[in-house]
Amino acid sequence: MIFSLSGCGSSSEKTDRTLRVGVVTYTVDDPFINAMVEKLKSQLKTMETTNMKVIVSVRSGDNDQREQDEIVEEMIDAGCDVLCVNLVDRTAPVNIIKSARQSDIPVIFFNREPVRDDLMLWEKLYYVGCDAKESGDMQGEIAANYIKNHSDVDRDGDGKIQYVLLEGEAGHQDAISRTDCSVKTLMENGVDLEKLSYQFADWNRGQAENRMTQLISQYGGQIEMVISNNDEMALGAVEAYKNSGISQDKWPVIFGIDGLDDALQAIKSGTMQGTVYNDKEDQANEIARLAVDLFKGNKLDSHNLVDGKYYVSPYWKVDIDSVDDFLHR
Ligand code: GAL
Repeated sequence: MIFSLSGCGSSSEKTDRTLRVGVVTYTVDDPFINAMVEKLKSQLKTMETTNMKVIVSVRSGDNDQREQDEIVEEMIDAGCDVLCVNLVDRTAPVNIIKSARQSDIPVIFFNREPVRDDLMLWEKLYYVGCDAKESGDMQGEIAANYIKNHSDVDRDGDGKIQYVLLEGEAGHQDAISRTDCSVKTLMENGVDLEKLSYQFADWNRGQAENRMTQLISQYGGQIEMVISNNDEMALGAVEAYKNSGISQDKWPVIFGIDGLDDALQAIKSGTMQGTVYNDKEDQANEIARLAVDLFKGNKLDSHNLVDGKYYVSPYWKVDIDSVDDFLHR
């Protein structure tokens, strides 16, 4: 199979039998996105038949929306049948939509959700992602359930859980809803909370470790719970505690979201108490099915798209009792 670095495939390869998929991510540095793209590539590969080859080209926007816009244009110029775009700036998809529309190439946005008005600009725009609120609610439920069953989480016995919250990225639909819904759900489930600090750490393990190290030196043993918008940042908090010299029986409980392998292992070993599985297999599967059906001009009835455009993948709760079901997915 021929692989093109600059686009979805050279124009000489263009035949009705070759589906050329261009995937553009917002960065190369996001383990969840990288894991999902790997799943997408392998899923598309399984959909090849003797009558249809699939060529996938993956590039990154390097955290720069203008650069991502240019990459999309290059992919279109090189020949591309379907674009899968993980926007850098979810409020700025307009240039990409314009270029794709001019060349009549459908776009499946994923993970970073464009605002509704933008998605309505053209009929061949789709979004594959999740209901961010659901992940926050589930994280709150897992944490509340854990606290109910472990009264020692409230180490100072004041009846309140002192907590810090690690936030993903300002303006990201998942960060906003997860923060709101997780805290709200904990309170609705009868947990009395005292907020110590909220810190942005851009979904990133290293940044979260730095923030958490500062928080530990500021609040010391007062911190009883860390709620994190994703697993990478939760694992950054675990690293900070590992390096803090505080013995593990005095660590706070730590909850994340995504269900990446490192976090599942951390739940098994007891350094994290729970996560919410962000179903990358289901999302990759849907992107691949949509790409093939759009390429073949098939009806999309079997996709159950909301408003004909949105695929909403379910989340799953993970704690010590269910972690084994997710470890070998
Ligand atoms: C979230 C995910 C984060 C990060 C982010 C990037 O859904 O939980 O870990 O990958 O997407 O947009």
